[in-house]
Amino acid sequence: MIKSVRGTRDLLPPETALWDFVDSTARDLFRAYNFHEIRTPVLEDLSLFQRSVGEDTDIVAKEMFAWQDRGRAENEKGQWLALRPENTAGVVRAYIEHKLWERPGVQKLYYIGPQFRRERPQKGRYRQFYQIGAEILGPPAAGSESPARDAELLEMLAALLDRLAIRDWTLQLNSVGCAHDRARYNEALRAALSPVVDRMCADCQRRAVTNPLRVFDCKVPEDQPIIDKLPRIRHYLDQPCRHHFAEVQRLLTAVSVPFVLHDRLVRGLDYYEKTAFEFTHGGLGAQNAIVGGGRYDGLSETLGGPRAPGIGFAIGEDRLILSLQKSAEELAKKPDAYIAPLGPGMNAEAARLARELRRHELIIELGDESFRLKKSLETASKIGARYAVIVGENEVNADAFALKNLATGEQVTVPRAELAEKIRL
Ligand code: HAM
Repeated sequence: MIKSVRGTRDLLPPETALWDFVDSTARDLFRAYNFHEIRTPVLEDLSLFQRSVGEDTDIVAKEMFAWQDRGRAENEKGQWLALRPENTAGVVRAYIEHKLWERPGVQKLYYIGPQFRRERPQKGRYRQFYQIGAEILGPPAAGSESPARDAELLEMLAALLDRLAIRDWTLQLNSVGCAHDRARYNEALRAALSPVVDRMCADCQRRAVTNPLRVFDCKVPEDQPIIDKLPRIRHYLDQPCRHHFAEVQRLLTAVSVPFVLHDRLVRGLDYYEKTAFEFTHGGLGAQNAIVGGGRYDGLSETLGGPRAPGIGFAIGEDRLILSLQKSAEELAKKPDAYIAPLGPGMNAEAARLARELRRHELIIELGDESFRLKKSLETASKIGARYAVIVGENEVNADAFALKNLATGEQVTVPRAELAEKIRL
């Protein structure tokens, strides 16, 4: 038997009702904040992620699904492709490719879709997982650098979690400074690491040379006491970055979004500047980050575009769903009625009636004329329909149908014109 690939899974009904509930709640809320949907391809040029997320990050160095794609014709060159591990890089690529900066104001874009990372699968961690993300970016003259955008985005996230009735969350907030601060900070980290690095894991020994900030991604328990003693970014922020960070905090307080400061939070992607954040959830165990995000003021220029500061987030939808209080059964809609065609030739009449009732936005399940009445009624009860409508020759001639309430067993005859209303009650 062929099974689904390791780290991927099928989402089946009724669980898909939860996904639908989360997607539609997010879409409705994003509309109120004037965000619009963007859909970028799952396949991208590998170099997009190397240049944005960063070659030294775990995501690019260890977790990419990437391959050299052969050209199909003699004159077509092969190309290194990757399944996207995240969506911010694709959004910024699209922003540059389609000159979205020519549009008025800042771009407020959201996406919902699958991402791919070759991680070790466990609860809340998959190789194909789903993100709901949003990005605000644009020219500085449109206000894209303002801390007001950071606060707006974070308040929107808090509102979404509230709307989904997710309670036990914590917003962890940090500033990772601008490129200039980071250069100074990296020097300080290198200096602090050099006497201790030979006691650290092989990854950290490499990171200490190439990209010291990435040492904070280390999960090896023995390295943690060393990492805890390293200098913290907060002492290396310049005046504008300190001011930006203070302003974000002031605005969040003004809109009553609680947060905790966490100065080890540097995030596992290289493009961040200034604000970096995660939302964690108490009930999730090891994989407790349900949202990650931050500012990426230099990313567009890194990818060859114009200056386009931005900030965004991605919700891990798989994890969000694990932390939902609602049950799938509660959300999955059951049929309002089951139509039971009774006897030869009745499928056409039943189909006609189903079409009429569905136009009234009722959920209708349609049986088959080959079923005996007993089998039809049993099926209707098993799938949770509220009513059964019997479509036999007598009913068709009278243009009135037997309507059976499957909970009470009560049966009445209802003229065609009144049927939809009666079922809705
Ligand atoms: P990230 O922190 O790499 O950020 O991922 C965001 C969220 O995706 C994580 O907090 C987690 O909930 C979920 N996630 C990541 N990997 C997995 C996995 N293997 N299985 C299940 N869930 C996972 C980003 O992706 C950035 N693009 C966020 C962003 C948007 N920054 C600015 N704009």
